[in-house]
Amino acid sequence: MTASDFDAVVREKERIHSGVFRLAFDAPGFLGAPGQFLEMEPCSGPFPMTRRPLTINRLLPGGFEVVFEIRGRGTELLAKKEAGETVRTLGPLGRGWRTDPGRWLLIGGGMGAAGFPFLKSELPEPPMVLLGASSSARLLQTGGHELVATEDGSSGIRGLVTDLLPGIDFSRFAAMAVCGPLPMMRAVWNTVPQEYRHLIQVSTESRMGCGWGVCEGCSIPAFGGGYHKCCTDGPVFMGNELDWNRWTE
Ligand SMILES: Cc1cc2nc3c(=O)[nH]c(=O)nc-3n(C[C@H](O)[C@H](O)[C@H](O)COP(=O)(O)OP(=O)(O)OC[C@H]3O[C@@H](n4cnc5c(N)ncnc54)[C@H](O)[C@@H]3O)c2cc1C
Ligand code: FES
Repeated sequence: MTASDFDAVVREKERIHSGVFRLAFDAPGFLGAPGQFLEMEPCSGPFPMTRRPLTINRLLPGGFEVVFEIRGRGTELLAKKEAGETVRTLGPLGRGWRTDPGRWLLIGGGMGAAGFPFLKSELPEPPMVLLGASSSARLLQTGGHELVATEDGSSGIRGLVTDLLPGIDFSRFAAMAVCGPLPMMRAVWNTVPQEYRHLIQVSTESRMGCGWGVCEGCSIPAFGGGYHKCCTDGPVFMGNELDWNRWTE
């Protein structure tokens, strides 16, 4: 679907955890692919000036859903929207997951799992999911078979999501999807044995201005030199397209 600029109408709001919200929107005719994102306008006033990028959590009949945590002013304003209010929205944007056939391994840290429900719905068979969060109160569960790690041990094993990796037989998977904070994605990249790294796709994040390739504000170091634009070349990249040594937040 080509991106368009439209008014999405809040259908429903749910507070999932403290500071974490699910907003369902009416947007007739909206389509998108897993891993694509939307640029959503927090308010029509002058501040914040730019829209905020949010992953499509899943498509709904006649609309879509996003899940986000309050980080600053933009997400705080979005979290205050009530049913019936409109949010000016540009999308769908970017390149999403290459949904190759076979069994997938999904690895999500914190809000990085926000787009997994949509990805799971498009995969040919149920994936294995590894989830990490600071505590059970911050877990974004995706349904189905999950292994969990929490830093405080309140759910699953005590530790980081990468602590689950030693028990994984990577030869069983056709693809791996990784999304979360940069240190977590880097740790996954470094932990997965070299022979399986070509299976890894990562959903990246960068501070964004326009969201559609014009402002050059979202550069991510490319393997071999130069930069990718997170918004149009990504946000999903094959792990081997990125220069993990030069990439910092
Ligand atoms: C393609 C894409 C998809 C995203 N999808 C989701 C999603 O589904 N759910 C979700 O909760 N969040 C998602 N994010 C992150 C979300 O866009 C930011 O949290 C939001 O823009 C912050 O806006 P703000 O005005 O609330 O905070 P600001 O006031 O802009 O920033 C608050 C703090 O967060 C930091 N920050 C903000 N944005 C980023 C970023 N992109 N990378 C690193 N640090 C940042 C700032 O440095 C600052 O410290 C996504 C980001 C991208 C690029
Ligand atoms: S956000 Fe403007 S070029 Fe990517």
